[in-house]
Amino acid sequence: MSEAARTMLQVNAEAVRKTAGQANPGFLWDFWYPALRSAEIRGEKLATATLLEVPLVLGRMSDGKAFAMRDSCPHRGIPLSYGEFDGKTVECSYHGWRFEACTGQCVEIPSLTSQDKLKVDRIFAGHFPCEERDGYVWVYMSSGDRKVVSTPPGKPTAEEISPAPALPVFSKRYKITHLSCELPSHIDHGIIGLMDPAHGPFVHQSWWWRGRHSIHEKEKQFEPIPNGFRMSKHSPSSNSAPYQMLKKMTGEEVTTTIDFVLPNQRLEEIHSGKLWFSSRATVTPVRRDLCRIDFVAAWNLFFLPVPIFRMFGKMFLKQDQQTMIRQAEGLKHNPRLMLIDDADRPAKWYFALKGNLLESRQTGKPMVHPMQGPVTLRWRS
Ligand code: FES
Ligand SMILES: [Fe+2]
Repeated sequence: MSEAARTMLQVNAEAVRKTAGQANPGFLWDFWYPALRSAEIRGEKLATATLLEVPLVLGRMSDGKAFAMRDSCPHRGIPLSYGEFDGKTVECSYHGWRFEACTGQCVEIPSLTSQDKLKVDRIFAGHFPCEERDGYVWVYMSSGDRKVVSTPPGKPTAEEISPAPALPVFSKRYKITHLSCELPSHIDHGIIGLMDPAHGPFVHQSWWWRGRHSIHEKEKQFEPIPNGFRMSKHSPSSNSAPYQMLKKMTGEEVTTTIDFVLPNQRLEEIHSGKLWFSSRATVTPVRRDLCRIDFVAAWNLFFLPVPIFRMFGKMFLKQDQQTMIRQAEGLKHNPRLMLIDDADRPAKWYFALKGNLLESRQTGKPMVHPMQGPVTLRWRS
């Protein structure tokens, strides 16, 4: 590798190191993020979550609609989650101010007398658009809501922003399951770990998947897609037992397509005849030193029971998690890092996409895609 290329790679890697310890934690605002599983908000119970270092209180209106408010009373900052919820309004536990849960609008301040002129309905608790999809409560983390405690109306409403992401499914009947695990990592390390093709034979060694001796040279086509890149449709690795089994069952070619889309999604589709398997992994920043992988998979493979899939899936995630825990140990000492070609090229695209998106938001100019067209990458794994 030339000295110039090496320096460039180190600059990319250094960006991760720097953002992890800075005032600006390197989050991407104005996107949907999964906050909780839908099943975690039931009845009039309030639940809490943290996204992008914003504390949230979530619940469900009596008509079933989920809501997400900033978990902080605009009066004196006590978490609203200590308050009471009646299916419509959240009452703060400190002075009893009440807020309409979906809009955050204040509807009552008990201490006011008939003499007071304060316009209660001009006071808002922070609130965020909220939608449910695929068993998750998604929250749109709008940058407009970041610093203010009282939010004036006029911020993007659910109608003005794109709908929350939905997992693609390809038949009426299918099985679906969810897994999640926390990583003690900055979001950038979480994401580049997720898209890293070279760790498989070392981290995910097992008899049922592949061993380190099955390592061989691979060549994959990639193409640009809006806000991301795609590993073009191809026949997956012949050294993975589950793919071989699928091919045997249908007698048809197995194809897979893998997309990465900002801010944090990896989508994979596998097809063989009428059989399909679709999965999505999102890495969501909780704090600058903590992120969470939410993995959802759906399939119509009659021979794959949910518990069996979950057993392998959990094992897989645990292997990644343990690696990231160990990596965090090393990163504490601020080492110099590098990204190499070609195995780390997807990671470089991620940093470029993120940087170019932020730049386009700042300048108002269209976002420049880091890929000019299809690219072939080669690595051994
Ligand atoms: S702090 Fe919430 S009502 Fe006063
Ligand atoms: Fe992995």
